[in-house]
Amino acid sequence: MKTISLSIIGFGAVGQGVASSILTKQNYLKEQGFNLRVVAISDSKGSEVNPEGIDIERALKRKNQEGTIAKSNQKALDIIREVEHEIVVEATPTNIKDGEPGISNMLGAFNSGRHVVTSNKGPLVLRFLELKEAAEDNGVMFRYEATVGGAVPIFNLIHEALSGNTVIGIEGILNGTTNYILTRMAEERMPYEIVMKEAQELGIAETDPSYDVEGIDSACKLVIIANSIFGQNATYRDVNVTGITKITPEALELASKNNYVVKLVCEAGKGHLTVAPRLVPKRHPLSVGGTLNVASILTDLAGRITISGKGAGSVETASSILSDILYIIKNS
Ligand code: HSE
Repeated sequence: MKTISLSIIGFGAVGQGVASSILTKQNYLKEQGFNLRVVAISDSKGSEVNPEGIDIERALKRKNQEGTIAKSNQKALDIIREVEHEIVVEATPTNIKDGEPGISNMLGAFNSGRHVVTSNKGPLVLRFLELKEAAEDNGVMFRYEATVGGAVPIFNLIHEALSGNTVIGIEGILNGTTNYILTRMAEERMPYEIVMKEAQELGIAETDPSYDVEGIDSACKLVIIANSIFGQNATYRDVNVTGITKITPEALELASKNNYVVKLVCEAGKGHLTVAPRLVPKRHPLSVGGTLNVASILTDLAGRITISGKGAGSVETASSILSDILYIIKNS
């Protein structure tokens, strides 16, 4: 049995999803020879640290009842540097203004010789190359499947299953909130304000929903794709972005009458990055409804490969994080 210690830094929807997935999959993982021991959990108010392994069930219950995991006010960065463990799960909220506290947490982890698995887009949008190099310089791994597409394994698919292929271009829908809004407006003729509220109630919209509807979240994901897959050093400014705020119910109706849907489509190829509403034929592979995400990858050998699935959600995002954790265990 291989025992691996990890910390969960950030205990919101994603962090809790990771904890509960580790709990529910404990026996399954043990059957495969892996014992995942969570030695520290941290949220914005404080932390719990236990080198013998935190009782996850009690930790989740306490978070639920008291609104925090805090048993002490030990800081996340001190935990990352000082508590003995192998993998840091960095699940603090995305901040695309300065990338903090994610950037400091990730650099702190790499410089302490710890691997990082993250769902946090901000640091990758702002300082991808620097983070990648810091991981390489310290001989540790940097995995970020959960940053784009939630449960949909875009990076794994391209870097592992399609390795050997050259990726020519990627197009897709990478924001569940806007897809939900456009689908409901088109299919149920619901007004924008009401469907936006529904998306917020589903817990998939960003804290500031203008990030979704103005295409900012999609653009951030496209930057991560450009840097990870096309080896670019792109930032948000390199993306041409148009959101969905100017799409009227009449436009959606007209599209539908002509057998089209309107989708907020992301496109990445060498040299161009675009997020914009597009007319998509109703039977086209990109025409997925509700909160679904989709990525269609054009390669030289395999041709076009399209995958679709849940782009947000606590346990769904944890699926990608768990897969990255297991990748590190198997390959380090
Ligand atoms: N607000 C995002 C979405 C969450 O709707 O897709 C997942 O990144």
